[in-house]
Amino acid sequence: MSTTEMANVVASAPNADGYKEFSLGGFHFRRDEFFAHITWPTGKHVISVDAFLRAMQRDVAWDFFYGTVNFDGVLGTVNHYGTVDLFAGRYNDAYRKAELDHVENFDSPQIRETFKAILDDWTIEGFDPFASPAETGKPFGVKVGSNVPAITRHRVTANRMVGVTGDEKVRTDATHPINRMFNDVTQDAPELHPEPGFEDEVAAFNLFAYLSRSDVTWNPSVVSQCKASLYCPTTEEYILPIIHGNDRVEWFVQLSDEIIWDVQDRDTGAPRAKVVMKAGDVAAMPGDIRHQGYSPKRSMLLVWENASAELPELIRTGRASVYPVDF
Ligand code: PHB
Ligand code: FE
Repeated sequence: MSTTEMANVVASAPNADGYKEFSLGGFHFRRDEFFAHITWPTGKHVISVDAFLRAMQRDVAWDFFYGTVNFDGVLGTVNHYGTVDLFAGRYNDAYRKAELDHVENFDSPQIRETFKAILDDWTIEGFDPFASPAETGKPFGVKVGSNVPAITRHRVTANRMVGVTGDEKVRTDATHPINRMFNDVTQDAPELHPEPGFEDEVAAFNLFAYLSRSDVTWNPSVVSQCKASLYCPTTEEYILPIIHGNDRVEWFVQLSDEIIWDVQDRDTGAPRAKVVMKAGDVAAMPGDIRHQGYSPKRSMLLVWENASAELPELIRTGRASVYPVDF
């Protein structure tokens, strides 16, 4: 049996607009020409299919990420690393008070395969959910074709570092042309002079040149890994399609240009801060917030993650702080 069969994706025949409808527990997903319609036993919700597919693409590609992935202020997932909560209104004060919120927990393969099937069926020809809106076609209209190459891109996850023998490759003109917004980024490479016998152990690459060749937006790639320390740089343009709720501290280093961050309380959505990060700025996002970024021009951002599996529990039980440092 394929994973899809094992996960038992529940899908209908195509509806009047040509799209399949999907059921996952008590949740139902339907798309029409412009919207994703989501229902659950106590409520219903509508999201522009544009925003929905961009968010779904990230949730699928990042395998539910760290902590919470809010598609908007109502719908989202919480990763428990083995199981995943799918929720509606659970982290929204008004929905909670009106008792319209709903949460269901699924084994990761079940929700993973269902989400993959939705993304696959609902993404039409010409629309790339990872691309900047300035660099892709539209997701709207009745079903025409698909875009499998765009939604199943290779995710860069270096074991040690990009450029190390046997690891993720440095980008070149042949594989990754320089993005239109980064034509001014110098493409020189560091010189390497390893001692004989260490040629496979010593590596270096130009990270700015590497990022200038990214064809996607809001998609952190793991370019280096040292134990739990992951360097996950990314190039950004327009709006981060999800609102990320942290289950650990994350560091941001703004490598170029500018991003404006909206920071809210993770559980209620109450506003907490507006952070404007200019090139060279460094910030730590606390472990108890949610955030969404706005990048007016294509920019380079380094996201520094601590992938340690113990962190969510340490923070939840108060044994680790939601701040990286106390001054
Ligand atoms: C984040 O949630 O911290 C995040 C996600 C994707 C990005 C940048 C930051 O591209
Ligand atoms: Fe984040």
